[in-house]
Amino acid sequence: MRTAIIYASTHHGNTKKLVDAIAKENQIDTIDIIHEKDEDLSRYECIGIASGIVFSKYYPQILEYLESKLPTGRKVFFLHTAGDPRENQNASAKKITDERKCEYLGTYFCKGFDTFGPFKIIGGINKKHPDQSDIDGAVKFFDGIKCK
Ligand SMILES: Cc1cc2nc3c(=O)[nH]c(=O)nc-3n(C[C@H](O)[C@H](O)[C@H](O)COP(=O)(O)O)c2cc1C
Repeated sequence: MRTAIIYASTHHGNTKKLVDAIAKENQIDTIDIIHEKDEDLSRYECIGIASGIVFSKYYPQILEYLESKLPTGRKVFFLHTAGDPRENQNASAKKITDERKCEYLGTYFCKGFDTFGPFKIIGGINKKHPDQSDIDGAVKFFDGIKCK
């Protein structure tokens, strides 16, 4: 199945570590939507959506990209890293994929190094995350979903 992961990972490249590890083990394309704005998603049957979290949501650039580019009826999955990771931080993005009648395959999320606001003063939180075990978990998650 032709697969791409679209991602935005602007804070520390935390989420990109998950994306890169999955791409290393699998025949998939990765699209950095901050820099590659004109990619055509219509050729992908399965689309991963990956982002850091800002104010409890996926980055606005990812949400805007989905609004303007996500084709209907694809299989989709989600990856995110956050200072305080929770599954439902994907809610705004998932709402868009649901509206496009996409099939939801699952979500993987883990801690990411975070130096936002007051955390900067203390040198950040989750300093070593995503760590190897977080990254291995993302690869395993991808292996377990029906995107192949
Ligand atoms: C402006 C800003 C706002 C953030 N808001 C949240 C938040 O609401 N909840 C959370 O858990 N993490 C929050 N974070 C932490 C990031 O989501 C976390 O560091 C993430 O791993 C960054 O991913 P990236 O390096 O792939 O961009 C925020 C970070 C920044 C810079």
